[in-house]
Amino acid sequence: MFRIIKNAPDLYVGDMIVYFVRQAAKGGPISTNGKIQAIIDRAYSVGDFLGREGETLLHYPETQIGNQKYTKRMLVIGMGKEDACHDLFRRAGGTVATSAMKTKSKKILVVLPEFVDFDKADMAQSLTEGITLGVYTFKKYKTKEDPDELIGNLKEVGLYATDPVAARQGMKQGRLAASASCVVRDMANEPGNLWTPASFAEYAEGLAKKYKFKLKTLSENDMKKLGMGGILGVSQGSVNPPKMVILEYKTSGKRTPTLLLVGKGLTFDTGGISLKQPLGMEDMKYDMCGGAAVLAAMQAVGELKPKRLNIVAIVPAAENMPGPAALKPGDVIRQYGGKTVEVVNTDAEGRLILADALAYGIEKYKPRTVIDIATLTGAVIIGLGHHRTGLLSNNDELAAKLAAAGEKSGEPLWRLPLGKEYTKMLKSEIADMKNVGKREAGTIVGASFLQEFVGDTAWGHLDIAGTAWNFTEKSYCAKGPSGTGARTFIEYIREWL
Ligand code: BES
Ligand code: ZN
Ligand code: ZN
Repeated sequence: MFRIIKNAPDLYVGDMIVYFVRQAAKGGPISTNGKIQAIIDRAYSVGDFLGREGETLLHYPETQIGNQKYTKRMLVIGMGKEDACHDLFRRAGGTVATSAMKTKSKKILVVLPEFVDFDKADMAQSLTEGITLGVYTFKKYKTKEDPDELIGNLKEVGLYATDPVAARQGMKQGRLAASASCVVRDMANEPGNLWTPASFAEYAEGLAKKYKFKLKTLSENDMKKLGMGGILGVSQGSVNPPKMVILEYKTSGKRTPTLLLVGKGLTFDTGGISLKQPLGMEDMKYDMCGGAAVLAAMQAVGELKPKRLNIVAIVPAAENMPGPAALKPGDVIRQYGGKTVEVVNTDAEGRLILADALAYGIEKYKPRTVIDIATLTGAVIIGLGHHRTGLLSNNDELAAKLAAAGEKSGEPLWRLPLGKEYTKMLKSEIADMKNVGKREAGTIVGASFLQEFVGDTAWGHLDIAGTAWNFTEKSYCAKGPSGTGARTFIEYIREWL
């Protein structure tokens, strides 16, 4: 869909040409193009267009003068006066996308703003991400078009920049990152009846074939032999058997460190016997967004092929259902590695499936670093709202790197503490620990449960319950699943390319 255009934008013939302007402190918006500035000035003087972020000015130039043809539409997008950052360009890209969809444009040219002091490759990357994510729709199960809904018709986006080399490099990175987020959205949008634990295994098989990853899928029987009582317990009320999906990317180096990624792949969370209330329960098909983010990150790993890092991805995939065979409150299970857990609340199931995956992955692959990602606690929404992912870690350096990667990717994180006082809240009378504390500090207590299974390994935990969907809507992030996590992982592993 994207290409770099080197010809002068004035001569562009297509459905739309897009320029950006900043909101100047005094004297109206600015543009380097005189003809456009005159139009902007007129709109500015009547008060219709001030260059504020997200404002748009659509103009219909003459499409033919003599033999010379011109573009059908000209769009000017305001970028406000806030300091430039990656997300400003991502949001600008999102506005390009919505405008293109509204006008049903198929072929557009986007002129990179030269007057903004910002790395041009990063600018092209963020714009590409914003446009790709902004035109994303999921219409697979619609049998007819809805006139009230926007549809993505965009086939060709040209990027015009005075530094085409940097722009091309950024465009490639942007395409890669955005396509990973779209893969997460695609999986998340699938309903619970059509995306089951087996679907995770099938998807991973496709990745393994395409990128020559090693794939191991543990079946229910394998899990029984290994003693993975957490994931077995959670899924014992379901007719869809659980899967533990393991993908390995290995470099040839001997002393290469290993990164372990673990994502919660709960394909539907009813709460089990501790049944959730019906209102909004349909959203619990999104309880697999962590697993989706991990597989999408592996797709990017397959493309990027880091030279100095081995990566293992594990998705414990299961469905949490009530039923005659389901776990009951008070049941005691034995996690991988032997720890016993009193399951006081069957709705705190994510930690049970993650614990097996973490303990197994750490024992088997001896990673230097482990990062897990999960829609783990409703409490993170109380703490951070839908604006930031919860970050918990036993390692300051890792926490700082993850926070930086999240910020740059437009997936901001916020760190919460861990500590003995929280771990103590999981004390059980009859087993090694309970799976829930009281209501207080729910996100920290959930993470503290996981911490019991990572030992001394540097570990980061991303609680995306507030950000995986219902995310603060942005121009490039419409209603529905956001695809969060994948871009943060991609940014995080750049260090080892
Ligand atoms: N999948 C949910 C967490 C969740 C809740 C995600 C709301 C997104 C929105 C998780 O399995 C869960 O139910 N957690 C419980 C834990 C509690 C019982 C300690 C919760 O948050 O209520
Ligand atoms: Zn639950
Ligand atoms: Zn859950």
